[in-house]
Amino acid sequence: MFSFVLLALVATVAARSHHLRDSASSIISRQKTTLPSTFKWASSDILVAPKNDARNIAAIKDPSIIHYNNAYHVFASTAVTSGYNLVYFNFTSFATANAAPFYYLDQSAIGAGYRAAPEVFYFAPQKLWYLIYQNGNAAYSTNKDISDPHGWTAPKNFYNGTPPLIQQGLEGGYWVDMWVICDETDCHLFSSDDNGRLYRSQTPVSKFPNGMSEPVIALKDNKNDLFEASNVYAIGNSAKPTYLLLVECIGAGSSPGGQRYFRSWTSSSLSGPWNALAATQQNPFMGEANVKFTNGNKWSKSISHGEIVRSNVDQRLRIGDCGWEYMYQGIDPAASSANYNNLPWKLGVLKQEGGC
Ligand SMILES: *[C@@H]1O[C@H](CO)[C@@H](O)[C@H](O)[C@H]1NC(C)=O
Repeated sequence: MFSFVLLALVATVAARSHHLRDSASSIISRQKTTLPSTFKWASSDILVAPKNDARNIAAIKDPSIIHYNNAYHVFASTAVTSGYNLVYFNFTSFATANAAPFYYLDQSAIGAGYRAAPEVFYFAPQKLWYLIYQNGNAAYSTNKDISDPHGWTAPKNFYNGTPPLIQQGLEGGYWVDMWVICDETDCHLFSSDDNGRLYRSQTPVSKFPNGMSEPVIALKDNKNDLFEASNVYAIGNSAKPTYLLLVECIGAGSSPGGQRYFRSWTSSSLSGPWNALAATQQNPFMGEANVKFTNGNKWSKSISHGEIVRSNVDQRLRIGDCGWEYMYQGIDPAASSANYNNLPWKLGVLKQEGGC
């Protein structure tokens, strides 16, 4: 009888502690990121190419994309030998994307001259759409109506000239690819120097777009291992989300302009620290190693500058934790041009594989 009681007691305690352990570990895993550490993607064929029009652009690049009011809205860079400008177009399904008319944004108050690498979002506190882009500085324009490309305001800069910290690191690089994301209290502005540094400034949501702080270095690596085109997103709807950072890098392999792929990091705060997620060329967030192409039509070895399709359109840049689509720029591996601006970049879309 004694041993029976003891056995029953041991069994109960064991069951209870097993139960405790299970619930403790599931609480921890819910608090941690639920993201996987390897990714797989399927790419479309070329979806959007330069049009045969009087503009004669060599490339369509750097798309920012949202799905809003039953349409995809894309803002992108146009490239010609002499430089960059912006374009807007919309479509209701990827299959019809290439038929969408281009609205060249130099026809709006954004104007002609160097403007590139746009990011679009809705800033809910002011009920205004913002377009963030580079113009030598970090610039923005606003619009009450995303569907009215004529409605964008003239460029205004976030900074008084190039911040000293960025100027110091710029030799051999370029200050590019501005990206804004806000948490509940602050808006953060990220940018890159094509030299291995990712910068971050911030200002209270109540002051945005004014009052950007002097930048700090958010992340640092070798030039090619932390190149440009950062995207930062909030995963899920929590007020304290996990943040996902993607940065485009140049890896081994030959492709015009260098073979491009993305590394990824996560953090519980937009101020970091950033922890590596899928962060090598062999196990990238997106790259030649983990993208397969429709019917084996590998039209690009580079997976370069673009954006996850967002349907939460506000300044918090919230996305789900799976089932992503990423619109990217790719390029014919055999293309060549003496001038980087003339390389024939086109747009495609990746769909994340593996289900939700
Ligand atoms: C698509 O863009 C055109 C301008 O090129 C605009 O007139 C139209 O309203 C937009 N459509 C939607 C659904 O936003």
